[in-house]
Amino acid sequence: MAPGLSAARITRRYAPKMGEDEDLIKVAAPAPNSARFYDMVLKFSAFRTGEAAMAMERKGFLKEAYDADTEEKRQDLYRRWAKSYDAELTGDYSYVAPLRTAELFHRHQPDTDIEILEVGAGTGLAGQALHDLGYRVIDAVDVIQEMLDEAAKKGIYRSLTVADIRAPLDFPARSYDAMVSVGTFSINEILPDHLLPLMGLVKPGGLLCFTVNEIVFDDRDYRGFFDRLAADGTAETLEIRYDDYIQATETRAYICVLKVA
Ligand SMILES: C[S@@+](CC[C@H](N)C(=O)[O-])C[C@H]1O[C@@H](n2cnc3c(N)ncnc32)[C@H](O)[C@@H]1O
Repeated sequence: MAPGLSAARITRRYAPKMGEDEDLIKVAAPAPNSARFYDMVLKFSAFRTGEAAMAMERKGFLKEAYDADTEEKRQDLYRRWAKSYDAELTGDYSYVAPLRTAELFHRHQPDTDIEILEVGAGTGLAGQALHDLGYRVIDAVDVIQEMLDEAAKKGIYRSLTVADIRAPLDFPARSYDAMVSVGTFSINEILPDHLLPLMGLVKPGGLLCFTVNEIVFDDRDYRGFFDRLAADGTAETLEIRYDDYIQATETRAYICVLKVA
């Protein structure tokens, strides 16, 4: 499913920063979810921070990841990207989300003797950041075998499981102290509701700590979803932190920390 941002929303959000360009945006609004539309989001994000000149364009696999419009294309992309993923993202792009998420998680859960389920673990960048902070029991789940093959090489996971988190995972209910996920709730078919079965795998009082790409946060109404969880007593929101995600492209994300009731 595509994120469904509208040009009107983009205009509302960024026009005040762009002065006389507002009319231009309205006239030249690209089709929602097109590659040019996301380029526009990126450019306007840069306006917001006043650093337009500094924002690097997405190229290669990263560009493909933002342009892919079906799960088949995304999965094919990650299969091809796996071997060069770490070097590319942690190099020129300054992909800081794994470290920022691990650090925020650590602030909320400093006990490193816990069992963590990491979904969308990919090549293990977030697992590595957690490991560096002292966490030693981390089980990785990802839908792409090739990504987990790279994660396995880091030697930091207790187990690695190929599975799609849009379907129930075959783990005992209420068995983990925490669920962590970086880069998974993004421009793809993973929705807020997919957090519910993951929540069921976490012990009462345990934490969920995950990023949501800013491009989908409002349109998929994550805040409303969290409010409903609070209202029905399922989970409490401890923190939603708007933070850098991929620094070079000026992409930001919300790092969310929920406590399961
Ligand atoms: C942007 S990468 C993030 C990987 C890693 N967490 C990181 O921060 O580098 C997104 C990961 O989510 C995985 N993924 C996407 N959809 C998934 C799904 N439905 N179930 C499980 N994993 C999924 C992809 O295969 C990919 O490895």
